[in-house]
Amino acid sequence: MATVHEAPIDGDGRRRPHARRVLVFPLPFQGHINPMMQLADVLHSRGLGVTVLHTRFNALDPALHPEFTFVAVPDGIPADVAATGSIISIILAMNAAMEASGAVDDVLASVLADEPAACLFIDANLLAVQKAATALGLPTMVLRTGSAACFSCFLAYPMLHEKGYLPPKESQLCTPVEELPPLRVKDLFLSSSNNHEMVRKVLARATEAVRNSHGLVINTFEALETAELDRIRREVDVAVVLAVGPLHKLSTRGTGSSLLQQDRSCIEWLDRQAAGSVLYVSFGSLASVDSGELSEVAWGLANSGQPFLWVVRPDLVRGSDGTGLPEGFDRAVDGRGKVIPWAPQQEVLAHPAVGGFWTHNGWNSTLESITEGLPMICRPQFADQMMNTRYVETEWSVGFELEGELERNKIEEAIRNLMSHGDVMRESARELKKKVATCLESDGSSVLAIDKLIDYISSL
Ligand code: UDX
Repeated sequence: MATVHEAPIDGDGRRRPHARRVLVFPLPFQGHINPMMQLADVLHSRGLGVTVLHTRFNALDPALHPEFTFVAVPDGIPADVAATGSIISIILAMNAAMEASGAVDDVLASVLADEPAACLFIDANLLAVQKAATALGLPTMVLRTGSAACFSCFLAYPMLHEKGYLPPKESQLCTPVEELPPLRVKDLFLSSSNNHEMVRKVLARATEAVRNSHGLVINTFEALETAELDRIRREVDVAVVLAVGPLHKLSTRGTGSSLLQQDRSCIEWLDRQAAGSVLYVSFGSLASVDSGELSEVAWGLANSGQPFLWVVRPDLVRGSDGTGLPEGFDRAVDGRGKVIPWAPQQEVLAHPAVGGFWTHNGWNSTLESITEGLPMICRPQFADQMMNTRYVETEWSVGFELEGELERNKIEEAIRNLMSHGDVMRESARELKKKVATCLESDGSSVLAIDKLIDYISSL
């Protein structure tokens, strides 16, 4: 363990670091950008300067954060790989290009020559950046933007292969993974295109980035994932493993890093709806549906009779350049339903009119829903979404999975179950919301973890 030198105490009783600046480098996808920028904001509010390194792919808009310095890094992602939209392929291509070109080394060296930095916070998927920083003697810290359970699963991947759980066999999908309760084989982080070797490689590189770093910061909170955090602390020998979430509540600029324009007209619309009456529906920034599924969702929502706010991203429908809502849908839901291309989601979930969330269970969406005490209909698609659903359903009892083919009658029934008969889930969600409030108090676990983080940065 590294020695932690105490930092001076500020007027507000919180510690202030000796070091003046940190660098951050998010993975260029919305679900990774948001928590990294929220962490940057929290560190900035504790007196640290922040320089944001970012790729040209999904480049960040410096105007959204005038308090930070922005530096673009050539990412070398080939256009044909970027066009596939496959995150795993993009991560591997980007890392390979960065390692081959030495571009990150040059940018880092020049940034450090301008002004020294205490450390660099990286996304776990940026091993190339981690290596470049280490070569320059700059300490790295990893921010994991998924759950502790998810990273614990990454660490267990070699064991899962050794014991034969992976690669997954059709006949064993429902087999419980005894070493990682409550997960079953089908809940693990699996390849959606049967490319298990590629997933194995990406996860091994992510764990390597963490093991090579000084510390690990996770966007979760102690009371939510106690056992999972313990498991990580037992298995990873780094100076600090800190649960600092939910970061969007510690940051004053929760939704300030959106790649898409947020349609704020929905807030006025929500203001006119009855308390707890609206179902919010969003499948995050990457998940997609085909046009048949879009139609089933539309009619399921329409037939449910429930007020709803539905995010239909411009690229939500696979193989189509439009959103193509079915004929007659607008008339059927007039005044009761609103469809928008992108929402100020954290504000929507915190709005008193919203009473439930139909989600794909990306980790940010899951944590944002838990924070507001909202029960969920879960429709996971890939990556960590299945395991998040499993936890929502069985560990926290704040939602249920909508399984099988998307079909309008099933959707209608699920909506009724959530919005009209979901008292037990709603009560569990309220209890969990109280735990979130506790971890955010001035002596709460997440605030104390940020204190420790500041102390640790000061010791570097
Ligand atoms: C995916 C994974 O599923 C996720 O678990 C992983 O950690 C990152 O990649 P994504 O599809 O982006 O993530 O979902 P999620 O993690 O929920 O992040 C989406 C973010 O976009 C959330 O912070 C949400 O508030 C925001 N959002 C979403 C909006 O601001 N507006 C919207 O309309 C929808």
